[in-house]
Amino acid sequence: MTFLSKFIFMPRVRVHQHVNPLSPFYQFIPPPIEIEKIFANPQSPLHLDIGCARGRFVLKMARMFPDRNFLGVEIREPLVTEGNRLARECNLTNLRYEFNNATYSLNRLLENFPADVLETVTIQFPDPWYKRKHAKRRMVDENLVATIAGHLKVSGKIFIQTDVDFLAEEMFEIFRANENLVEFGIFANPFPVKTERETAVEEKYLPIYRALFEKAQ
Ligand SMILES: C[S@@+](CC[C@H](N)C(=O)[O-])C[C@H]1O[C@@H](n2cnc3c(N)ncnc32)[C@H](O)[C@@H]1O
Repeated sequence: MTFLSKFIFMPRVRVHQHVNPLSPFYQFIPPPIEIEKIFANPQSPLHLDIGCARGRFVLKMARMFPDRNFLGVEIREPLVTEGNRLARECNLTNLRYEFNNATYSLNRLLENFPADVLETVTIQFPDPWYKRKHAKRRMVDENLVATIAGHLKVSGKIFIQTDVDFLAEEMFEIFRANENLVEFGIFANPFPVKTERETAVEEKYLPIYRALFEKAQ
């Protein structure tokens, strides 16, 4: 079986479309990642994809860039289990998925990371939670941005994209408010891989709102 056929023909694990990150089940503190235990070359630059869903973006990136490590974080645990199984079957020792409520405890997950390892971060099409009464369920808040900025190496980049205009403005403002980050204008995805959601939105010719931030100091 080829690499591609492995994930094209594999039955998709069934999951809830959304989970409530505020429910007690998702308010857990994970043990910090020991980076030398999860990657064959722990000193390689790391890419973190937050809200990776089935994780095909990092899977393809890990195939393309074997000298980099890729970590996908996702709140729906069955997708994490499936992703790690697939990574093992594909012998990708530079790819790992972690079950985590990023808004609640990403800081704890990354606590033991060396200062200079996290080079790029992506947040792509996070759930918008449209209703005002559900706004607290949205992924990006000041604490998450502080966690990312705190662990990112200097000159490290954060790429964010969504097809929801009000969510884009809300998220971008929170990133702009972090004093360690500088914004760059961007119109296209700077990575050679699209997520499943990006492909779906492009096929409908709908607009996508994107931003790129760099850690200045
Ligand atoms: C609309 S999907 C987009 C998935 C993928 N990034 C893409 O572009 O195709 C948003 C994903 O973020 C995950 N998610 C939402 N809140 C999260 C949180 N607090 N922590 C981790 N993942 C979360 C959801 O479970 C879902 O898989």
